[in-house]
Amino acid sequence: MQNPVLILGASGVIGAAIARSLSENTPVLLHGLGPSEQLETLAAELKHGPCEVETETADLCKTPDVEALFSRIQKKHEKLGGLVFAIARPFPHKLTHRTDWTVFQEQIDSQLKALHLSLTCALPLLEKQETETRVIIMSTEYVLGSPPVKIAPYVAAKSALTAYARTIAQEWIGRGVRVHILAPGMVKSRLTADLPEMYIEEIVAELPEKRLTTAEDVAMVAKFLMSPEADTLYGTVVPVSRAQRR
Ligand SMILES: NC(=O)c1ccc[n+]([C@@H]2O[C@H](COP(=O)([O-])OP(=O)(O)OC[C@H]3O[C@@H](n4cnc5c(N)ncnc54)[C@H](OP(=O)(O)O)[C@@H]3O)[C@@H](O)[C@H]2O)c1
Repeated sequence: MQNPVLILGASGVIGAAIARSLSENTPVLLHGLGPSEQLETLAAELKHGPCEVETETADLCKTPDVEALFSRIQKKHEKLGGLVFAIARPFPHKLTHRTDWTVFQEQIDSQLKALHLSLTCALPLLEKQETETRVIIMSTEYVLGSPPVKIAPYVAAKSALTAYARTIAQEWIGRGVRVHILAPGMVKSRLTADLPEMYIEEIVAELPEKRLTTAEDVAMVAKFLMSPEADTLYGTVVPVSRAQRR
């Protein structure tokens, strides 16, 4: 039987779109921070599809939770077919010098720390398989070109995550694990839910196609990156954006 692809953050908008797309030809393990309607609804929807679907929950900022998550997965499946990291914590929009350090710490924890804990535990489940496995790490287009103002904790944490991902992509290629990095443009989700509609309309008006990037745009490229056709792109920060930030 095919090993499942673990989608960390599948209860989110982008993670769910990736799960829908990948579940067309691979079993998926859907993860959320805790039990939620989003996770249940997605699992119920995908169970009608051709491949196996399971759910898991864990706080990826907490070492014991991450260790317990991967230990459960290892007991049940032994190996993973791949992994997608698509988690995020909402952040306030404030000038950098008015932002408390705790907000920076929360962003560093939910990006760099969560990624490090997850990948460290995932390696034995990903490496040494007959065929290569693939990992997709969600960065942001804000790490390319000039970042927007008032979201320094998020951009700083994503920049750290991206540097980490580029490094581990080189370290793991010899272990049979190919690491890809995606940099989406702004997508409507819980992460961007507190932005005023007027502000979003102004952004859309500035975009060449007059429309935002969608979770489905991201999912299509993610599916491509999970295929051998995209192998030469490993370690590259791949933009998926309707903007022209690059
Ligand atoms: N939306 C954008 O404009 C945009 C643009 C570029 C990149 N991205 C990146 O794309 C990824 C997905 O974002 P999204 O827009 O889909 O966000 P979203 O809808 O807010 O989903 C966030 C996901 O993260 C999970 N999560 C939050 N804190 C967690 C923790 N401590 N431990 C485990 N899981 C946790 C949530 O779980 P629960 O549902 O259980 O709370 C949810 O599954 C993120 O990495 C984000 O930074 C987003």
